[in-house]
Amino acid sequence: MLCPFNRLLKDALKEHRAVGAFNVGNLEMLLGIIKAAEESQTPVILQIAEKRFTHSPLEYIAPMLHAAAMRAKIEVAVELDHGCSLFNVRRAMDLGFNTIMFDGSMYPVEKNISETRKIADETHARGVALEAEIGIVGGSEGGADLTANCASLSDIVALGSKSSCDALAIAIGNAHGHYKGIPKLNFDLLEKAHNTLPDLPFVLHGGTGISPADFRKAITLGIAKINIATANFDAIVTASMQYAEKSAPLSRNYFALNENMVEQVYNTTLAHIKIFNNQEPLDSIKF
Ligand code: 13P
Repeated sequence: MLCPFNRLLKDALKEHRAVGAFNVGNLEMLLGIIKAAEESQTPVILQIAEKRFTHSPLEYIAPMLHAAAMRAKIEVAVELDHGCSLFNVRRAMDLGFNTIMFDGSMYPVEKNISETRKIADETHARGVALEAEIGIVGGSEGGADLTANCASLSDIVALGSKSSCDALAIAIGNAHGHYKGIPKLNFDLLEKAHNTLPDLPFVLHGGTGISPADFRKAITLGIAKINIATANFDAIVTASMQYAEKSAPLSRNYFALNENMVEQVYNTTLAHIKIFNNQEPLDSIKF
């Protein structure tokens, strides 16, 4: 069922776990994510970034995400990820998204605060939650490639306390896409930020490539939402390649390929969910 974003994150923060926020590009990804969430009886967030509308048009994908959330046997929130314009924020709310991530991280902090506040006033008036971002998360969410640049503690505290955001994505050395080396998260900064704003759920973007141990450590320091996109995009590509390799040309059919894709996304999502739930020992999870 569709569920308020704030409650999902507040519960997670209190229970020292994180909600997986999985980006969706197509139906096979959606089916695999919902199957993993229902089987593990774990709430999830379904999301799509504004930059992905070229490949997954908003007017097509939004009703699909919303319908999946309404029908799911677990609690689901639906988010516009990296919303950059008020125009798209409004379009997403009109189509039933119940949380918006506004990315003002390219602005100096004071402008980030004022722009985020403007968006938050509008989303809150419609009962829609707002996630903000501070610092430069490296890599690319479909745009230019950026070098990871940690936020300063004072900027985190300023945006977290003055923008009226419901959750805050903070750059602590994380990056979207495939990491060029081994990711090195600044846990010291995360701990200080969490100690200063203990009730504000923090969000870790760029989840693909972060180790299970680092996920668990980040969760103990206030990360209550973790974004995963590339791992499931890769799962779809891997499933296609494996299917092409194992099947004879004349026996290939879309429906078998669909099942392989759903299964691969399900496996990837389930592994992340088990890590984020922070209950099972890490060595028992196939990752
Ligand atoms: P990855 O693609 O690195 O998993 O990052 C996802 C993300 O942060 C979406 O906002």
